Amino acid sequence: MSQSSSPVKGTAFTSKIGLIMAAAGSAVGLGNIWKFPYIAGENGGGAFLIVYLGCVLLFGLPLLMTEFLIGKRSGKSAFGAFRELCGNSRWQWLSWLCMLTSLLIMGFYFIVTGWCFNYLIEAIRNTFDSLVGTEALTAHFQSVVSNTPRMILFSMLPLLLTAAVVWFDVNKGIERLSKILMPLLLLMMLLMAGRVLMLDGSNVGVQFFFQTDFTKITPRVVMEAMGQCFFSLSIGMGALITYGSYMPKTQNVTTTSIQVIVLDTLVALLAGVIIFPAVFAFGFDPAEGAELVFVVLPAILQQMSLSWLSSVLFFLLLCIAAVTSTISLMEVMVAFICEASNRPRGKRQSVRPLSRHQSVLITSAVVSVLIVLCVLSMTGAWSSLSVFGHNLFDCFDELTSCVMMPLGAMGMAIFVGWILPKNGVKGKMYPDRGVKRWFWNIYIIVLRWLVPAAIVVIFLNSLKLFDVA
Ligand code: PHE
Repeated sequence: MSQSSSPVKGTAFTSKIGLIMAAAGSAVGLGNIWKFPYIAGENGGGAFLIVYLGCVLLFGLPLLMTEFLIGKRSGKSAFGAFRELCGNSRWQWLSWLCMLTSLLIMGFYFIVTGWCFNYLIEAIRNTFDSLVGTEALTAHFQSVVSNTPRMILFSMLPLLLTAAVVWFDVNKGIERLSKILMPLLLLMMLLMAGRVLMLDGSNVGVQFFFQTDFTKITPRVVMEAMGQCFFSLSIGMGALITYGSYMPKTQNVTTTSIQVIVLDTLVALLAGVIIFPAVFAFGFDPAEGAELVFVVLPAILQQMSLSWLSSVLFFLLLCIAAVTSTISLMEVMVAFICEASNRPRGKRQSVRPLSRHQSVLITSAVVSVLIVLCVLSMTGAWSSLSVFGHNLFDCFDELTSCVMMPLGAMGMAIFVGWILPKNGVKGKMYPDRGVKRWFWNIYIIVLRWLVPAAIVVIFLNSLKLFDVA
């Protein structure tokens, strides 16, 4: 086993900061800016925040470390990592689960990213000026999400962009771009937050976001926070295993995980600090659901001074956050295909080894088909394309974040917590240099008991086998 061999020959991160930025780019996405504020808004603001932070520390950190460790120690992507570490193919199902999860997430994530691009272009062209009030903006949003050709076209735009970045070697494409985009994103968010906090009445929104009403903490809120924590940190689908396999040998897994978590949480908090004060300053309802960003925000941005600049800035940062995530999703598939097709199989080589470029083309083609199917099922253009009465977009979203990602995360926790030590390969998962023994012991206990137990609860709940209040 070599730690330095990366899944695709010739590629690896050349700097520690490059990997941190790329992993933070994967974590920071629509989940932070689009989903987090409205889930927090629906679940009582500050109370949700506390539960969310608890989940991040208790489950997010150990699972992030686990994925990085699997990738770093095996030197392989989601395809070969489990086989490499345990020495047999019994855990290969987890590899396939990762690959399928990334594929299905791409199916719906590119569509929402497409809405962001659509809104960015409209913001640049000043389209929102002619749409006054939330009714007009709701109608506009509905017209965007029901227009089949437009949705397909706008979903292809980020797909092409993502493919163009992943086309290059990891250090030339992903690393270079993340090192520019992530600091830019943070800077833009700080600017936006400063701008919003200067509005009259914004303090009510800040109070709402940070108030702590413990009566709001119900089991359902805890469940929601846990699901959001997995999605937001990109846990349980192999993105961080893949990035971990490109990790420089001297990089510390524990500190890197903490840095990624801090960045991800900071962006989620900043998104809340941008959105809630603005919502209250202009007298809107904080619990507007998924339309918060696409209806309420444009309405607010319209009323601000420097509205053109603020709108462009906001949708640009949304697009940047989304694309750094789609890059990591595509990298999972591309590294998977490369590694699977390049695996030595003795004399009988039945599969032709594929290059990185070929893998990018295959992935893009498959994802395009998924996007088209999702859009057709969503707009009703092909109404028989539904599962149990839900369109494919909703199905992929629910299935991945409620079932597949928790299942993947549980598999990885059991794999590292129970299977590896039993197989006599304990040494392979040795802690980082300098990490205290007590920290490592707690990590293993959490991984063995707490993570699987918590995930079983989420899992049963999402399967509606029992319903929490
Ligand atoms: N973490 C991303 C977000 O918050 C979503 C994502 C999930 C990206 C899984 C990659 C892999 O939006």
